[in-house]
Amino acid sequence: MEKSSKLHSVLRPEIRDSESRREMGVSSSFKDQSHTPSLTRKPWPYTIYALLPIAIFLLFFYRLPLLPPSTDQLPRSNRLILSASVPPSLSSSSFSQEEKIVNEAPCDYTNGKWVRDKLGPLYNGTTCGTIKEGQNCITHGRADLGYLYWRWKPRQCKLPRFDPNTFLQLLRNKHLAFVGDSMARNQLESLLCMLATASTPNLVYRDGEDNKFRRWHFASHNITISVYWSPFLVRGVEKSKTGPDHNELYLDHVDEKWGNDLEHIDMVVLSIGHWFLHPAVYYEDDEVLGCHYCPGLNHTEIGFYGVLRKALKTALKTIIERKGANGKGTDAVLTTFSPSHFEGDWDKAGACPKTQPYKEGEKVLEGMDADLRNIEVEEVEAAKGIAKQFQGLRVEVLDVTKLSLMRPDGHPGPYMYPFPFANGVQERVQNDCVHWCLPGPVDTWNQILLEIMRRWQIQSWVEE
Ligand SMILES: *[C@@H]1O[C@H](CO)[C@@H](O)[C@H](O)[C@H]1NC(C)=O
Ligand SMILES: *[C@@H]1O[C@H](CO)[C@@H](O)[C@H](O)[C@H]1NC(C)=O
Ligand SMILES: *[C@@H]1O[C@H](CO)[C@@H](O)[C@H](O)[C@H]1NC(C)=O
Repeated sequence: MEKSSKLHSVLRPEIRDSESRREMGVSSSFKDQSHTPSLTRKPWPYTIYALLPIAIFLLFFYRLPLLPPSTDQLPRSNRLILSASVPPSLSSSSFSQEEKIVNEAPCDYTNGKWVRDKLGPLYNGTTCGTIKEGQNCITHGRADLGYLYWRWKPRQCKLPRFDPNTFLQLLRNKHLAFVGDSMARNQLESLLCMLATASTPNLVYRDGEDNKFRRWHFASHNITISVYWSPFLVRGVEKSKTGPDHNELYLDHVDEKWGNDLEHIDMVVLSIGHWFLHPAVYYEDDEVLGCHYCPGLNHTEIGFYGVLRKALKTALKTIIERKGANGKGTDAVLTTFSPSHFEGDWDKAGACPKTQPYKEGEKVLEGMDADLRNIEVEEVEAAKGIAKQFQGLRVEVLDVTKLSLMRPDGHPGPYMYPFPFANGVQERVQNDCVHWCLPGPVDTWNQILLEIMRRWQIQSWVEE
């Protein structure tokens, strides 16, 4: 394993180089390697130059196939990186390993347990400039840091540590958009922090109060990552001090703030849930369908399960229709509902006081958390059926509900504000037991996201 990881890091500049030559239409020859522009694009340390001959040797030694003519896929030599969990062996080609991976039932990341992990997170509260204040628990003075040293162990398989370079390779020349509520932002910021350990993101766009719309560009791989605030995914008017005192939502139209940009988005991660608990009036076909928690308005109470389902259906259907029709293909991932952990009043000291994950079997997924998650899983399954009719459309669920439920210790709690106990412990203190500290459990969501992407890529090679 160690040998293969060394091989990956050695091969990386090699791959980068071959790719840029392909882009320039230069024929494949190793002779002019050190003169290709890609090597000067980024200041590679001199040691890399020294390692190049070794890399070339290894390249032939492992008899990696040469580059395919298609331009929208990773070179085959990258397969080695993608099959990282299966060390390359001399007796079998990397191709049969891929087939093996694809033919195996995919790992079920849903069920498992949290186990102690000495390694800890890839980043901390100061190495990354994109953590929202209220979730930067370390810099806000949270002293117990045990919550950083856990890793998710799925029952039947191993979840590899997040490898930012593989993620960047898979996303080369693509635009990934996170769309949804503050959980989408939580997940986006975790991903940015982890990727930033390998490549620098540049903020190229920002709009809206509280950073609701932002976009970054990774020059190293020409990757765009963006976040769109759209807590219902569908068109509507959010409640506000100057507007209505409830949300008004149109369940049969997507919110065009992100819908209009779909044309330029290659992969979308959706994340919604909590906002459906708020008071709202819902419309369908321009008629009132009903409302949730709207005393004073003469509408039928319709709860939040059915409308969440409809909003998801509309969002997934729109993505499939618009992207399927133009034949460009898209990947859509839905992150499932992540439970909150309030024990008592939200403004009382010790609202989410736990400092360790629940043990296996200590907490069952039930009630609203389970119901919301099940609706989301069902709607993704339904969307998969529709997506099959189009080429290059892939839909998957990122089921984080259970693993998040097991992490009552991962919330900011009182550390949503800096040093909440600087003047001693007060009886009343505001707590955030909904969002997650960064670094924290959300990093695991992105670990699983990477496994989904890895599997997709290998699948597409085998189907080639
Ligand atoms: C965060 O990481 C950086 C770089 O690895 C290190 O210099 C710094 O001391 C760390 N800060 C904390 C609070 O651990
Ligand atoms: C960079 O990525 C975008 C998609 O996000 C693509 O349209 C563009 O062609 C890419 N640029 C290069 C030089 O490959
Ligand atoms: C409330 O709606 C019902 C049924 O649509 C109607 O019969 C009733 O008159 C309405 N009440 C008010 C106060 O508008």
